[in-house]
This record gives sequence, C-alpha cells and structure tokens, in this order.
Amino acid sequence: MNKKDNFIQDINNGYASKGDNIILGGALLDGEAIAEAHVKIPLKTLNRHGLIAGATGTGKTKTIQVFSEQLSNAGIPVLMMDIKGDFSGIAKEGKEEGFITERHAKINIPYNVASFPVELMSLSKQNGVRLRATVSEFGPVLFSRILDLNDTQAGVVAVIFKYCDDNNMPLLDLKDIKKVINYITEEGKNEISANYGKISTATTGTILRKIIELEQQGGDLFFGELSFEIDDLMRIDENGKGYVNIIRLTDIQDKPKLFSTFMLSLLAEIYQQMPEKGDVSQPELVIFIDEAHLIFNEASKALLEQIETIVKLIRSKGVGIYFVTQNPMDVPSGVLAQLGLKIQHALRAFTANDRQAIKKTADNYPTSQYYKTDELLTNLGIGEALVTALNEKGIPTPLVATMMRAPMSRMDVLTTDEIEAINSKSKLVKKYAEEIDRESAYEILNKKIADAVQANAEQEQQAPTKSSKADPSTTSVVTKSVLKVVTSATFIRGVFGVLSKIFKK
Ligand SMILES: Nc1ncnc2c1ncn2[C@@H]1O[C@H](COP(=O)(O)OP(=O)(O)OP(=O)(O)O)[C@@H](O)[C@H]1O
Ligand SMILES: [Mg+2]
Repeated sequence: MNKKDNFIQDINNGYASKGDNIILGGALLDGEAIAEAHVKIPLKTLNRHGLIAGATGTGKTKTIQVFSEQLSNAGIPVLMMDIKGDFSGIAKEGKEEGFITERHAKINIPYNVASFPVELMSLSKQNGVRLRATVSEFGPVLFSRILDLNDTQAGVVAVIFKYCDDNNMPLLDLKDIKKVINYITEEGKNEISANYGKISTATTGTILRKIIELEQQGGDLFFGELSFEIDDLMRIDENGKGYVNIIRLTDIQDKPKLFSTFMLSLLAEIYQQMPEKGDVSQPELVIFIDEAHLIFNEASKALLEQIETIVKLIRSKGVGIYFVTQNPMDVPSGVLAQLGLKIQHALRAFTANDRQAIKKTADNYPTSQYYKTDELLTNLGIGEALVTALNEKGIPTPLVATMMRAPMSRMDVLTTDEIEAINSKSKLVKKYAEEIDRESAYEILNKKIADAVQANAEQEQQAPTKSSKADPSTTSVVTKSVLKVVTSATFIRGVFGVLSKIFKK
C-alpha cells in the first residue's frame, strides 16, 4: 500500500465509532484534502472536554459554529460564552458562496444551509434573557472567593451569612449584604458580638470596599432575583434540535472578575442541579468558553484549583466544557491535562517565545508518521486544524490535520432587528425580565433600626439616665465562633454550598 492508502486506512480506523458521531471535516495529507477520510468525533466522548486554540483569524469561532450546529442537530443543547459578540449568526441560514462550495467539494461532504434555535442571554441590561443569582445562593465560600478575601475576612462573611440565616433575612442583592455589614458594625454591634464574637471594623471595611469594587464591575446587575434555572439551558426545540444558548458578554470583557465569578457559579450550579449520569451515549449540554484566557489570567491560585476540580467533576453529569483561546499555554496544565478533544488551528511564529510555545504545543500531541507537527502548526490554512480526540474506549485518536466543514448558518452577526425579533418571541426573556425586590435583609434591618430608635426614644422619656453598655463577659473569642460557623455543615447551603464540600477534599 502507498502512503495515501495507509493514511486513509489509519484515519478511518482511528476515527471509527459504533455509536453516533459528528463530522468536523475532511483529513489533510501533504496539504491536500482526502475525500475518503472524514474526521468523526463520537458523541459519547464529548463530555470529556476540549480545547480549541489558534492564532487570531485562523478559524476558531467558525469551528465552534460548525461544532455547535452539529451538536444542535444531534439534539444536544449548547451554551456559548460569546465574549466578542460574533456568534449570533447561528440563528439564521448561511449563504452558499464559491469558497464554501469549493471547500465542501474537496472534503466530500454535502453542503446545506440551515438555521438553529437560539436564546440570547445577558448578565447586564443588554437585550436578552437576564441571568441573575442571589447572594444567598452564592453561599459564603464562593462569595468570599470572588471578593478575593483572606481567611479572616472570609470568616466574617461566614458570620454574616450565618447571622442572616439565623434571623431569616434573605440576602438577595449586594444592597442587602452591604446593609448587614453596616448594621453589624453600628446599630447591631452589641447583638453580634454577644452571639457571634467581636468583629473588627477594619475587616468589615475591607469587605465593603471589595463589594463596591464588584458592584462597579456590574455585579449589582447580576446579583438579585429572579435567579436563573439551569433547566432552561437544556431545551430542545419542536424539531428535536438542541437550543444554542448564547450569553453575550461583550460588555464584561474588561471585567474579568465578574466573568470568572459568573463562570464558576454557573458551573457549580450546573454541577449541583444535574443528576449523576454515569456512562451516557451523548452529553446533556456542551459549553464553549471563548477567550478563555480571560478567566485564567486573573484567577487566583484558589480559583484555579476550583476550576480544575469542577471541570474534573462535571463530566459525570454529562456536561462537556470546551475552552477556546489563542495560545494553548493560556490554559493551566491541570486543566489542559483533562481535555479529551483538541482542535489546534495555526499558530504564528513571530518571536522566540512563539517558537517555544509551538514546540511545546507540538510535544503535547500524539506523534504521527504523516506529519511534522511543529512545522504543520505554522503552515495550516484558515479553517484548518490539527485534531485529536478520544475514541469510544477513551483512547486518543491519531493526530489528523483537518479541513473543517463550513458553517451552515450565517458567518456574520445578526442585525439589531433580528436580535429584537428573537427576544420578543422568547418565553425566557419574559420569564426573567421582571426585577423582583421582595423583602430581604435590607428592608428587615431598616425596620429593625427604626423600631429600635423609637423604642429608645420611648425608654429615654421614662428613664433618661440609664446607659446601655455591653457586658464584656458575653464577648467571646472571635476566632473560635468564626471557625465554628465556617465548619458548620448546615451553614454551607444554597446551590453553591456544594463547592465547599468539593473543595475541602
Ligand atoms: N470552517 C470554515 N469554513 C469557511 N470559512 C472559514 C472557516 N473557518 C474560518 N473561515 C474564514 O476565516 C475567517 C476567520 O475565522 P474566525 O472568525 O473563525 O477566526 P478566529 O480564529 O475566531 O479569529 P479571532 O481570534 O480573531 O476571533 C472567517 O470569517 C471565514 O471567512
Ligand atoms: Mg473568534
């Protein structure tokens, strides 16, 4: 057999699957598309996560589009973190142009145009389904982590949550938690120190400052009701196509803290809400995180460990996470090691650093008798990528240079009118549009303070000289009670409470 026949046989054997699969494109040998060898990814291993990397303009976003279309067709819902806002076109049919016809002739895959069911979602006031969560749901552990608090400060946050819990005061938005902090350092100082230990005003000051920082990053829009229900991400339309849920994040590109918080809370909630799946024939949900370096760059070591853990665990719930970034080195090695599918578009070798990164990237791929991986990494054309996946037995498939198929939907964004049309028809937009501000910590404490002021005035009228000084014996040692609160199992609650259990391991 000659080299080409060997290649066809190796690829077809390597990418054969018993169950359903999706076809990403056609295999390339010596720069030429081989019509007889398609690159197929088994649905069964899509919960094993993945990476889509490559220099700017090499085709990453189109690859996610192609990937999402195939998933949607297979009845698998998709969640897309759309940082650049260039993904909405998937809701409309594409247009067959010359370069597409040519590409599809080369890879020998028929081309059709198609559109897909889309929900547009947003963390802010941008049009779309409003995504929100309450502070209580976040739980003290995650809330402290997003504020980057040290152990002492986190201990105080734990006391605050416990105090609100004990007094049936829901913490819905940031206004609530700010009010509680003010209360426990002023009017409620004695009450708190008697029951929970003394709290330093320097610590509460720092916490308040950090909450305000978060607020300025748009956190005030995110925290509140109605909180988002994960089931709403799992919808299938009347034709059996999975919904493509696009979270438009164009307005938080420069707010990495809010972005990483949101990501982690969402992953944690998905983990918590979804039942254990075991061995499944296809995933329940596939998540794409575009510009993933934004989460990793600013993340503290603790946050990175959390991401690593949740990525590891969420697989068993039938959820696949795909990180999309320019340089594979952007993804921490602990996460990288867990990614089953790798789609590597071209890298550029401008500097010595670039060349080193290319060398490292090449070393991370299975060796191939057909390719010089490091050379190929810089020579791949636009819309071409080096692919390796996991077969149904969980073994890495042979490395294959792939000419990706073209998206069936529009390779451009929607117009404002088109976006409005989608949103006005969406049931979810209506469901989450209403801003609810039911009675929570803020209102309850204000009432308590007002009542106290009135009672004091009445008391002073009757006995004007009596001073009220706190009994020093009731002021317990702060660290002791803080510790007790942090470790109390009942206290770690709410949908994100699960994090604390996971991360203590
Ligand atoms: N699979 C494909 N089929 C047809 N054309 C493609 C394909 N992939 C990429 N292209 C072409 O290349 C262009 C750039 O692709 P894309 O926007 O996906 O790049 P990118 O890697 O996401 O870039 P950036 O890093 O700037 O976001 C597309 O607008 C399209 O014209
Ligand atoms: Mg892109």
